[in-house]
Amino acid sequence: MAWEGIIRHYRDYLPIITNKTPIVTLLEGNTPLIRATNLGKELGIDLFVKFEGLNPTGSFKDRGMTVAISKALEKGVKATICASTGNTSASAAAYSARAGIKSIVLIPKGYVALGKLAQAMIYGSIVLEVEGNFDDALNVVREASEELGIEIVNSINPYRLEGQKTASFEICDALGKAPDIQVMPVGNAGNITAYWMGYKQYKEAGKINSLPKIFGIQAKGAAPLVYNRVFEKPETIATAIRIGNPARWQEAIKAKDESGGKIIDVTDEEIIEGYKKIASKDGIFVEPASAASIAGLIKLVNLGDIPKGSLVVAIATGNGLKDPNTAISNLPPTFTVKPSIEEVKKFIQ
Ligand code: F0G
Repeated sequence: MAWEGIIRHYRDYLPIITNKTPIVTLLEGNTPLIRATNLGKELGIDLFVKFEGLNPTGSFKDRGMTVAISKALEKGVKATICASTGNTSASAAAYSARAGIKSIVLIPKGYVALGKLAQAMIYGSIVLEVEGNFDDALNVVREASEELGIEIVNSINPYRLEGQKTASFEICDALGKAPDIQVMPVGNAGNITAYWMGYKQYKEAGKINSLPKIFGIQAKGAAPLVYNRVFEKPETIATAIRIGNPARWQEAIKAKDESGGKIIDVTDEEIIEGYKKIASKDGIFVEPASAASIAGLIKLVNLGDIPKGSLVVAIATGNGLKDPNTAISNLPPTFTVKPSIEEVKKFIQ
């Protein structure tokens, strides 16, 4: 049967969806779980990458947005609002457009990847660039949503998590069991919360017998959960996770503790190394925040936190094409040649 999107596919696990819910979908989900043979071999583990960058707007946010916007439409909401480092705004803009609902997005000025900004604009959102960071923008959005009665579609909206948990179902369905370990980037901490909800729900339903250890990865300059303090001025090349005061703080700690995992940080240099590695070794181009997964994975293997031979899933949350500037500015320049075979030969050993 053709894929119908996560709501229809996992309807039995989404009790919040009723017969009255109009389903707003772009056929999100069903993303590939790619065996990263080359990097896995280098690290001595059985490594899979869940490539969420292949969702309709290029990130995992679409799973949560299909549910949040469907419920908003059911409620008769006229407008949605969100703060975003770029991916939530792209997704909110697309799904709101499809539902015929106005969308307003607040993004930190100068810190959103070009592709993501273009997306919010082309889908027809009202795009407000805030002179401040994501945390500042989220504070305004909370206020605006309350005062103006506009539906907030950040991951503090519980419907978002309901949709996002379906990624853990897909991983278990593809593997026939839960992985030993999952590694994922953490920003506002909605996704780690959602995955843990999903794994627990699948175990209760008897679909899996074990639960994975969840390892969350933050950027060193934006690592509130690692150091247990708010970062007033978060900084990292991975702008998607440039967040200093995550909304789902307690839930993220709970997911880590209950699963027996850890939350660690990686430097921007390590992120760039992981970014190049997963692309050049296994052909998967992810955005810098997603490369934090890979950088964290390498670090955890070196620390001995991931035993050799483990079945590991790394979550690649967003598509590399969203942020071409970061790729180009961190790689050696290309060569310009005359259109002659002699010139071309000079570059081929
Ligand atoms: N990876 C990417 C590509 C993201 O865009 C985000 C969050 C995360 C990881 C972290 O997920 O916040 O649930 O812990 N992006 C949000 C946004 C903040 O506005 O697009 P999280």
